[in-house]
Amino acid sequence: MDELEPEILAYYSAEWDEDARLRSGLNELELIRTQELIRRHLAGTRMAVADIGGGSGIHAEWLLQDGNEVTLIDPVPLHIEQADDRLGAAPGFRSMLGDARALPLDDHSVDAALLLGPLYHLTQRPDRITVFEEALRVTKPGGFVVAAAITRFASLFAGLQEGEIFVPEFQAIVEADVATGQHRNVEGRDYFTTAFFHHPDELIAEAIEAGLEDTTVFAVEGPVMASAQNDRWWSNPEKREVLLGVIRSVETEPTLMGIGPHMLLIARAPGHARPAERPGETGTT
Ligand SMILES: C[S@@+](CC[C@H](N)C(=O)[O-])C[C@H]1O[C@@H](n2cnc3c(N)ncnc32)[C@H](O)[C@@H]1O
Repeated sequence: MDELEPEILAYYSAEWDEDARLRSGLNELELIRTQELIRRHLAGTRMAVADIGGGSGIHAEWLLQDGNEVTLIDPVPLHIEQADDRLGAAPGFRSMLGDARALPLDDHSVDAALLLGPLYHLTQRPDRITVFEEALRVTKPGGFVVAAAITRFASLFAGLQEGEIFVPEFQAIVEADVATGQHRNVEGRDYFTTAFFHHPDELIAEAIEAGLEDTTVFAVEGPVMASAQNDRWWSNPEKREVLLGVIRSVETEPTLMGIGPHMLLIARAPGHARPAERPGETGTT
């Protein structure tokens, strides 16, 4: 198995509680929007889903409740233990210790491959292309590949919201993130861990190079995180709906893609019938 960087393993094994991350407060926005975008594309029949980099099962849980079968794969033993504790008894669930670069799955064995985590922890482009190729290999023709990325300017906006932008060590991190996308924590600080932050164009180019089709990138949180009042507004149910509507209205606007922390690429494996190719239909071009 390809080795995870030791600092990434240490971060998820001991320094950070990934299991709690999306379950409260404004972080829920990432969960709700990811759910919404995936359901918009995948809803319908019971699907076999690979949740690659699935962590402790935050997405596997609702995907199972929606009636899908889920294989959760993650390289961090603690995450697999937590996922098994929570979901081990759920019909249709299985978990495997594994790396997105060499998936322990058969060719064309799933309807959808979710990469909600691995891409931003692989700092080298060839590794990220391999991850997309692996996702494509295990996905049935015409199936979906969904990939989360952290945007190039995530640290810059987080620093402005939280005031860390005035800390010299953080300024150096932002400078490197913006210039190269290569994000590194510094000793004694809690500024995430080793990661690569994508420019939207890079994410699409990597997916296309790996052979994916019909690629669209959506803003997950969009401009909402950039507001100083966002925490307070999010806890009000009526305002929450307004905020979600605002995000939807600009979710594919290229000039706003980098203003929020996450993007979601939704693409398809070659082999799906386009409208004009379905039996009995004729093309218009
Ligand atoms: C921020 S967490 C996201 C967890 C969950 N998918 C979510 O969306 O909330 C990133 C996840 O990616 C996993 N990961 C990191 N590198 C990976 C790799 N090379 N292959 C597969 N998963 C990886 C980590 O173990 C962790 O569970």
